[in-house]
Amino acid sequence: MRTVIAGGHGQIALRLERLLAGRGDEVAGLIRNPAQEEDLRQAGAEPVLCDLESATLEEVTAHLRGADAAVFAAGAGPGSGIERKDTVDRAAAELFAQAAERAGVRRFLVVSSMGADKEPPPDTDPVFAAYLRAKSAADAAVRAHTALDWTILRPGRLTDEPGSGLVELAEHTGRDAVSRDDVAAVLAALLDEPGTAGKTLELIGGLVPVPDAVRTVAD
Ligand SMILES: NC(=O)c1ccc[n+]([C@@H]2O[C@H](COP(=O)([O-])OP(=O)(O)OC[C@H]3O[C@@H](n4cnc5c(N)ncnc54)[C@H](OP(=O)(O)O)[C@@H]3O)[C@@H](O)[C@H]2O)c1
Repeated sequence: MRTVIAGGHGQIALRLERLLAGRGDEVAGLIRNPAQEEDLRQAGAEPVLCDLESATLEEVTAHLRGADAAVFAAGAGPGSGIERKDTVDRAAAELFAQAAERAGVRRFLVVSSMGADKEPPPDTDPVFAAYLRAKSAADAAVRAHTALDWTILRPGRLTDEPGSGLVELAEHTGRDAVSRDDVAAVLAALLDEPGTAGKTLELIGGLVPVPDAVRTVAD
């Protein structure tokens, strides 16, 4: 199985690459900075240079040809402003989904965010509100790609605590934190569970082992 990850040097992406490579899958990560190539190789992934804010649909499609699955794990990051929430968190996700459809990749996972399901309250910090709106718009665009077997994952606040392997995964979980280790483990399990296609799932730390949590939400 070959998986292509957008935002291949992200903190969740590197963890997912290690997990997938460790179980014998082929995995590639799209990055925009050549200095990150060696980190991907160390994680067992093939680095592919592709800046999703400047690449054409044809270029991204070419990177996705032959893949069985694609994961959008990119993000403009905490230091970025409103403009890059739009160019990365929304537009790059939309481009990646469109390219996946064109390339004939069926399985498509998105790392979205808890809170992207509703309009942010009026007192929300403007940059954070723009981020949530960008994630929401990207999720809506992904859902419109009916040829994709998409699953949208909306984690709560991310931490770098070691993964417990225990989560709560459901349509609505309530707000809480989740470790990046556990997010990566859930993504790896979702790739193997086509019964989660068409679902938008919130994720926080919990009490259920990851394989059981994913099996429970599958049709
Ligand atoms: N922080 C939270 O509490 C929280 C909660 C829920 C969901 N999320 C979301 O979860 C996702 C993953 O989180 P994370 O911690 O793994 O994020 P991260 O470490 O910030 O990784 C994001 C990656 O996206 C890449 N990227 C940015 N612009 C790009 C472009 N134009 N082309 C290609 N790649 C690009 C970055 O690469 P560069 O090194 O080149 O910048 C970076 O490697 C993000 O979308 C985040 O918004 C976060």
